[in-house]
Amino acid sequence: ESYDMGGHDTYMHKEISEQPDAVDRVLRGRIDDRFSTVHLGGLNLDAREARTIRRIKILGCGTSYHAGLIGAGLIEELARIPADAEPASEFRYRNPVVDPDTLYIAVSQSGETYDVLAAVQELKRKGARVLGVVNVVGSAIARETDGGVYVHAGPEVCVVSTKCFTNTVTAFALLALHLGRIRDLSVADGKRIIEGLRRLPGQIQEILKQEDEIKKLAKRYADAKSMMFIGRVRGYPVALEASLKLKEISYIHAEAYPASELKHGPLALIEPSLPTVAIIPNDDLLEKNRAALEEIKARSGRILAVAHQEQEKADHTIVVPKNETELDSILMGIPLQIFAYHTALALGRDIDKPRNLAKSVTVE
Ligand code: AGP
Repeated sequence: ESYDMGGHDTYMHKEISEQPDAVDRVLRGRIDDRFSTVHLGGLNLDAREARTIRRIKILGCGTSYHAGLIGAGLIEELARIPADAEPASEFRYRNPVVDPDTLYIAVSQSGETYDVLAAVQELKRKGARVLGVVNVVGSAIARETDGGVYVHAGPEVCVVSTKCFTNTVTAFALLALHLGRIRDLSVADGKRIIEGLRRLPGQIQEILKQEDEIKKLAKRYADAKSMMFIGRVRGYPVALEASLKLKEISYIHAEAYPASELKHGPLALIEPSLPTVAIIPNDDLLEKNRAALEEIKARSGRILAVAHQEQEKADHTIVVPKNETELDSILMGIPLQIFAYHTALALGRDIDKPRNLAKSVTVE
């Protein structure tokens, strides 16, 4: 993959558009249909060791931390191993209890982020086993970890991460499937997830085709001074990532909350000038999410929903293709990358180089 813009006006636009191919690349050569599982050559963790893992702790910063939150959810759902994610920048400073039965996973696009590298080094010093989910081959974090999964997103030039986020989450789905099939995930469920993974590139293509409509929506919301992003369980990390994307390139203030937390405080902010972006997959929380939309509408809040079907209470809905429920969060953030992009464009921002930010944060 070359570094030229290939006919796109910005690297961000190029990288958003590359996602079908990028996801295809993270899957390529890894699926084993015979056993309904995946092979992850560099993992360096045999089946016996994988069965002894009692807990998984994922560490990353910014977008990679958000990918880690989705990864933790996938690992809990598919492998039934307790898992959570934490900002690497905080982890090191709270003198964490390092447990020998916990597998640590460091996530990083660049593989050079100082906060993540320092957390890995601290963990290794304490004898922990640390794997990496990293994009840049041979980077510092890839070298320091005991093994891992390369994300194969290709070079990402724009300061804000898009294709690497999607590929990282997909890499976590592969890892979760692998661990699940070693533990208690059935052949049938393994097959179902593999079929879902194979549908992703085509479904991303379908989302990309909606760019013109999303651009119109972005122009409608670009006058907002602040935006609220909400989602529940699988949708919440998507909301966090979408709000970060909007902040980074449009400089519009944005907050992300679990929809269930609205009534515990943020509902006080809702009024016509504060639009809400709601992530509403067709899962077991659909009705509860719809109830949250009613609460927002009752306060005259504008709502943009990202959902699997039109949402009656929303002013606008971006409809995304349905995949297996466990994999839905991989797709739901993509229209919001396009939304953030066109919002920033409408506001005349320097999209590839947002103010105050660097692509790779190699200092503390
Ligand atoms: C992404 O849009 C951000 N610019 C930023 O949050 C980034 O994800 C973070 O600094 C971590 O970088 P890494 O993935 O290269 O470690």
